[in-house]
Amino acid sequence: MWQQILQSVRSFKYPWRSIILAPAALGAGGLLVCWLLSRRKIKTLEMGDGWWGSGERPPREKEDERIRSFQIETSDREIQELHQRLDQARYTPPLEGVAFQYGFNSTYLQKVVAYWRNQFDWQKQLEIVNQYPHFKTTIEGIEVHFVHVKPPGIPKGQAARPLLMVHGWPGSFYEFYKIIPLLTDPAGHGLNEDVVFEVICPSIPGYGFSEAPHQRGFDTLAAARIFHKLMQRLGFQEFYVQGGDWGSRITVNMAQMLPKSVKGLHLNLVFITSGGLGRLVSLLLGAYVPWLVGLTREDSRRLYPYLEKNVYELLRETGYLHIQATKPDTAGSGLNDSPIGLAAYILEKFSTWTDRSFRDMDNGGLERKFSMDDLLTNVMIYWVTSSIVPSMRFYKENLSKNLNTAPDARIGVYVPTGIAAFPQELAHCPHSWAKKLFKNIVVYSYMPRGGHFAAFEEPELLAQDIRQLVRKVEHL
Ligand SMILES: *[C@@H]1O[C@H](CO)[C@@H](O)[C@H](O)[C@H]1NC(C)=O
Ligand SMILES: *[C@@H]1O[C@H](CO)[C@@H](O)[C@H](O)[C@H]1NC(C)=O
Repeated sequence: MWQQILQSVRSFKYPWRSIILAPAALGAGGLLVCWLLSRRKIKTLEMGDGWWGSGERPPREKEDERIRSFQIETSDREIQELHQRLDQARYTPPLEGVAFQYGFNSTYLQKVVAYWRNQFDWQKQLEIVNQYPHFKTTIEGIEVHFVHVKPPGIPKGQAARPLLMVHGWPGSFYEFYKIIPLLTDPAGHGLNEDVVFEVICPSIPGYGFSEAPHQRGFDTLAAARIFHKLMQRLGFQEFYVQGGDWGSRITVNMAQMLPKSVKGLHLNLVFITSGGLGRLVSLLLGAYVPWLVGLTREDSRRLYPYLEKNVYELLRETGYLHIQATKPDTAGSGLNDSPIGLAAYILEKFSTWTDRSFRDMDNGGLERKFSMDDLLTNVMIYWVTSSIVPSMRFYKENLSKNLNTAPDARIGVYVPTGIAAFPQELAHCPHSWAKKLFKNIVVYSYMPRGGHFAAFEEPELLAQDIRQLVRKVEHL
């Protein structure tokens, strides 16, 4: 009898054990997974180091960290030379009945050039450009240019919030000239002054007045690191960042590199590379049952018909990208030599990327949103600095690698993020897709109007959205 009981208890032992052990094992496993996940969370992008100066990096020499004030100047000879080239222009007549569908309509181009040659006042534009303080400093062997605007006054008990704004291609720091006063001097523009910014707009190396890298491999990661070094040099431990186009990639990389320094990230264009099967399913189902895959009605409006709006449209508009990502120096040599070619190449983007329907307008709709003076000032920034070729090379350095295996592809962005989705942007990224990369989206706005050059086109709307992000981050 006694034996029998013992026997049965023993045989019971095993289920008992597993009843206790299984949850314990599960618990431990769960903890391990959580721990691994949390470790993944704090994974940041390696900052690395670089040298972009001419020749070998000087051994162990400390970089000159001085910040030098700078004014943009051009000589009379440069302008005379430009005028000579404009006077010697050759044009190919457009096909009959064609507006901007084949590219820049050369009949209209002649009008632009006539304005440039006879009415455009570069000296007057230079005064506008130089109204804000410009600086240069040497980082990783090259001169980095930036505009740094402090607020004229700060309300009591407040501190100005540093904000780094990064442009893209074919833009420049000048894109921010209309938004800067709204951010630094809200009171002067009838805006609530609860958030006042101190704005820093650098030129990406190779663009405008930043020196072009002399070595291969200058990509968004290098630009992100250089801008971190710039902000550190200026004494900012924590700051906000904003960008569209390349500026978006660069500021995202900045947030992945040193999340502690980036208080908030604001984007007006979101690149998402690896979507995988999930994206495909979301896309296919989304066409019929958008709510099931987390798409809103507005997302559907902007995404579908997908092939037409987001695939063919991109194919039609991204030939430049393929050229620049493969042989930038070849096409670039013509553009660097001809101001007319340069203007056509750059301004065509300001037409279609502002509104795709502008392709069907005789004058590319260019003057609907911009003044010719502003457009030509941006072209002049490329012309007087000879920066078109280096600006194009940036595509090659970035797009020749597999984006899905790039070091930044698998690292989430954990800093508070604001996304302003402009309706005419080249591709729409719904909130539910953006969430995959951006783990902490605090503002996602469907903007009522505007396209790719948000700050240049809709400074008020963009400024409002940036403020909204800051209010959320700081609980104002
Ligand atoms: C090109 O632009 C001009 C000037 O804006 C316009 O009059 C013309 O119809 C357009 N198309 C052609 C084929 O010239
Ligand atoms: C740019 O190049 C870097 C380095 O390979 C890569 O991590 C990044 O994803 C690239 N960005 C784009 C938009 O191609």
